[in-house]
Amino acid sequence: MRFAMHFAITEDRLNREVEDREIVRMLNERTIEVSLPNRMGYERIAMDCSASFARIVGFASERVEDLKTAVAEACLNAIEHGNRGRPDTRVLVTMNFNDDFFSVSVMDEGNGIAELPEEPNIEQVVEKLEPPKGLGIYLIKQLVDQVEFNDMTKGGHAVRMLIKLTSQQSSSD
Ligand SMILES: Nc1ncnc2c1ncn2[C@@H]1O[C@H](COP(=O)(O)OP(=O)(O)O)[C@@H](O)[C@H]1O
Ligand SMILES: [Mg+2]
Repeated sequence: MRFAMHFAITEDRLNREVEDREIVRMLNERTIEVSLPNRMGYERIAMDCSASFARIVGFASERVEDLKTAVAEACLNAIEHGNRGRPDTRVLVTMNFNDDFFSVSVMDEGNGIAELPEEPNIEQVVEKLEPPKGLGIYLIKQLVDQVEFNDMTKGGHAVRMLIKLTSQQSSSD
């Protein structure tokens, strides 16, 4: 019986475009939150979640890759610097899509970024004349449309990133 019902629903939704639009409407009103254990490697979970959310709401694959990289760098920083590798802490990744803006907040339990690093000299880094310090923050700034560091609340320190869905970045192009 359950299978039959499932089949009927699937048949009703043969038009993928309609189905996608329904999902978008639903997620538009919702926030997705992922609470990660403070473990290196688990940033991949946040990367995959943000990527799948961004794809559903219509971002082109190139922009999804940018988002994944920014999310990964922010999560790694939260794990390594914000939570200082402590296993009793968490990293909270909150995502929201509203009015063509995809926002991601990566929160750790630390005290924020004491001093934002100066922009690295990428040529020197590529030539390995300079150690790649400050590369994560540099990448985040390059890849998202807007970023805010050091957002301090009771919950901890958050990095907030915003990516706008434009027609050039949309998967329907
Ligand atoms: N979430 C964070 N909490 C505290 N400090 C941070 C955080 N993220 C980054 N930082 C500080 O900013 C520096 C630069 O970060 P980043 O550009 O990612 O380079 P890296 O992680 O390789 O040091 C870090 O070395 C750290 O001192
Ligand atoms: Mg880093």
